[in-house]
Amino acid sequence: MRVGIVGGGQLARMLALAAYPLGLRCTVLDPAPDACAGQVAELLQGAYDDPACLSQLAQRVDRVTFDFENVPASTARALVRHIPVFPPPLALEIAQDRLAEKNLFRELGIATPPFSAVDTLAELQAAADTTGLPAILKTRRFGYDGKGQRLLKAAADITPAWDDLAGDIPLILEGFVPFEQEVSILALQDAQGHTAFYPLVRNIHRQGVLRWSHAPCQDSGLQEQARDYATRVLQRLDYIGLLAIEFFVVNGRLLANEMAPRVHNSGHWTIEGAATSQFENHLRAGFGFPLGSTDTIGCSAMVNCLGEMADRPTVLAVADAHYHDYGKPPRPGRKVGHFTLRASDPLTLNQRLASLLPEDLADTLLPPDD
Ligand SMILES: Nc1ncnc2c1ncn2[C@@H]1O[C@H](COP(=O)(O)OP(=O)(O)O)[C@@H](O)[C@H]1O
Ligand SMILES: [Mg+2]
Repeated sequence: MRVGIVGGGQLARMLALAAYPLGLRCTVLDPAPDACAGQVAELLQGAYDDPACLSQLAQRVDRVTFDFENVPASTARALVRHIPVFPPPLALEIAQDRLAEKNLFRELGIATPPFSAVDTLAELQAAADTTGLPAILKTRRFGYDGKGQRLLKAAADITPAWDDLAGDIPLILEGFVPFEQEVSILALQDAQGHTAFYPLVRNIHRQGVLRWSHAPCQDSGLQEQARDYATRVLQRLDYIGLLAIEFFVVNGRLLANEMAPRVHNSGHWTIEGAATSQFENHLRAGFGFPLGSTDTIGCSAMVNCLGEMADRPTVLAVADAHYHDYGKPPRPGRKVGHFTLRASDPLTLNQRLASLLPEDLADTLLPPDD
């Protein structure tokens, strides 16, 4: 059997690597001839909206999934007419629009930061009055890694932020959340409605980019709430595959920030840190195989390599370290790989991490009994 993946980045690459042992082969569709998943899977080079490529993909594979959520909705809709697609195109469409996403959370009784749709400067001024400042102005579509966002600290920031982002309307204004931490849940559902959940992960971002993740998050009191929220989304969307939801923790409560209808950067630790990786489980869900155990193996820290890979011998010299080079040419700020450290207890994990965590993140190490 063969799985088609729209998009050939690192997520597709890690999906392909997880697919082989299951007896699945992959074909990735990507416009770039050097898409990094093409190093480990068959690459179909072509545009995401080229009907000939889509029909070729649909003929070659048994099911289709996605490497990123900004796959054109028309692409997902076109594919689903010919072949099973997971997650469902509706999940993609909602996740492509921050307003639709937050409205879905609200409809499902999932708490979010305050938000308002903004299409004009007058609406932005009105939204800032209702939400209060500080607030964050975001593009509703195509934002990732903190791109397309402006922080409004004071009224004087309103017009400059509008000038910066007005070319990318529609926009959304969100109240700035003075969060204690950021966490995410990775949830799975298959076609029969079986679900599985990885434990909450603590995520540390800088300038809107995920720098490292710690699993399991030690605040286990939030786990039930996160599972309940994720279950509501899975059920509402008749979801198949892996779904990630990012939350802010504020005053000990979860506020949903956004969701990703795909395998997620905050789940890379599951390759070594869980009985079944998020990549394998996404494929199991999509192909109707029984879901694998989401039990953790000790505790894990996953550190993103931005711009360039971490020094290989240095990382590999640390006990239970696992190195993942995505085979992408280095470029400032680009996610080119990650490494995961595993340990049987948080204290040991912290000790191993301390020597490898970039200096600017030293203050993000939690005391192990926190
Ligand atoms: N309303 C907010 N309050 C506080 N911080 C925020 C808010 N929205 C975003 N951020 C910060 O910016 C990061 C990236 O924003 P996010 O909305 O998740 O967009 P992206 O799609 O780029 O990941 C978040 O992980 C968080 O650290
Ligand atoms: Mg995010």
